[in-house]
Amino acid sequence: MSQSTTPPGLDLALTVTVNGERQEIRVPVQATLLDVLRERLHLTGTKKGCDHGQCGACTVHVGGQPHLSCLTLALSCEGREVTTIEGLAPAGGELHPMQAAFIEHDAFQCGYCTPGQIMSAVACVQQAQAGDADAIREFMSGNLCRCAAYPQIVAAIQDVAGQSGQGAGTAGAVQ
Ligand code: FES
Ligand code: FES
Repeated sequence: MSQSTTPPGLDLALTVTVNGERQEIRVPVQATLLDVLRERLHLTGTKKGCDHGQCGACTVHVGGQPHLSCLTLALSCEGREVTTIEGLAPAGGELHPMQAAFIEHDAFQCGYCTPGQIMSAVACVQQAQAGDADAIREFMSGNLCRCAAYPQIVAAIQDVAGQSGQGAGTAGAVQ
């Protein structure tokens, strides 16, 4: 796993809402969203795997869509809503249904890929792409799991898609 490679440089103001909380910070012009989340906002649930857009470990939602935060300039998120794994569950200690399904189906081993997998999995169901196992595998193909928990991940997604009535393709409810 690589450390931040962001060299010192020009800092600019950034206003962004992260997990429902408005943040006004100054960030280096070249800083990635991933590094700002982890190093400035201390939201270390989002993982840095490859730092090159190849593993999906850094997946977060920006404006409700899955984004690779290692390839996203922090400043491009000006005025936008970012959700990380820390912001997925409702307040009060309950798990998000996808988190609960990952536990239920034993869909992780070392867990390093899991935050990114769950963020992509939620988007998969929200976007009605969980119609069958092949569709799920296609949607999730950017998220690598070195422990190869893929069958259990697919099962967890199918479970949530079934619970929310979205397996056949209606967009909407899973938040
Ligand atoms: S850390 Fe972003 S895709 Fe690997
Ligand atoms: S559970 Fe280990 S990398 Fe996916």
